[in-house]
Amino acid sequence: MKIDWPRLRAAAADVAGRAYAPYSRLHVGAAGLTADGLVVTGCNVENASFGLTLCAECGLVSALHATPSASGSAPPVLVAVAVVAGDGDPLLPCGRCRQLLLEAGGPELLVDTAGGPVPLAELLPAAFGGADLSARREPGAAASL
Ligand code: THU
Repeated sequence: MKIDWPRLRAAAADVAGRAYAPYSRLHVGAAGLTADGLVVTGCNVENASFGLTLCAECGLVSALHATPSASGSAPPVLVAVAVVAGDGDPLLPCGRCRQLLLEAGGPELLVDTAGGPVPLAELLPAAFGGADLSARREPGAAASL
């Protein structure tokens, strides 16, 4: 699939302009391309209770799941992501967001960096994933809460 990186970066820069970041003053925008060819975006949203801050990638992943997939009931899959700061240049996703992106796009997800796109597996090697849960959980039913 041909990825229009300039378009993706422009979408990320556009949404960075709508970030709510009065505390850090670091505006962040994220734009992702789905396998269906749709572009989904997110921006960071801060809070006076600092720990509640939502990264731009969190908004992107939420928008991804809110988007109906052309292929039916399965959630759309991300194939490429551009994250930029308010200056328009690439910003590497934080560790938590790399983990979130892994579940939305898998290890082959292409992530834009200052040196060009790289597979997410390079940014998050030896990752923990859903397969570890099924392989390592205790036998028996989960406790009801
Ligand atoms: N931020 C993101 O939106 N994504 C990242 O991957 C790194 C950090 C935001 C969170 C916070 O609003 C600001 O950048 C400073 O950490």
